[in-house]
Amino acid sequence: MTMSIREVKVCLLGESGVGKSSIVMRFVTDSFKPALESTIGASFMSKKIAVDDQHYAFQIWDTAGQEKYRSLAPMYYRGAAAAIVVYDVSRDSTFKTVKDWINELKKNASHNIILAIAGNKCDLEDLREVSKRDAEEYASLINAIFIETSALNAVNVPELFMKIARSLP
Ligand code: GTP
Ligand code: MG
Repeated sequence: MTMSIREVKVCLLGESGVGKSSIVMRFVTDSFKPALESTIGASFMSKKIAVDDQHYAFQIWDTAGQEKYRSLAPMYYRGAAAAIVVYDVSRDSTFKTVKDWINELKKNASHNIILAIAGNKCDLEDLREVSKRDAEEYASLINAIFIETSALNAVNVPELFMKIARSLP
């Protein structure tokens, strides 16, 4: 019998500094680098996982959050099976940016794209500015997957990608 692998193209979007690259690094190499350079343009990584006896090959485009790269984003979310929009639970302004990205995706991305919202840096509980409940409520309103993660403490990072795998048509 041949083992089939489903290829899943995903892209990460969100304001600079929310931890997109750190999430990808945690997922792909299970490591964390405290002084990661801000991404230039975009970077690509791949990772295979098995979920419920099905193998998935994630092809991950990690976009740059800095404003000057914003116009490049459509190249990465077009044709993606899923978009992960990341914010930082300790910075409310980054959650506002999530809504801008979701509106852009609703307008310009493929209609069946899976939307996921990740509230990263959930280890910073004392500095929290975005409540889990508010974010969850927004995500359910727009039919998006929601999860809080910590790339630093290795919380819920594979789970984010597993949720996406389980949502694929
Ligand atoms: P751009 O590439 O500029 O778009 O940023 P990015 O979203 O890729 O952020 P990056 O992964 O480079 O992380 C930004 C900063 O946040 C770094 O100093 C990280 O060490 C820190 N960081 C990332 N994830 C976490 C986390 O889960 N918890 C905490 N406390 N810090 C984190
Ligand atoms: Mg980055």
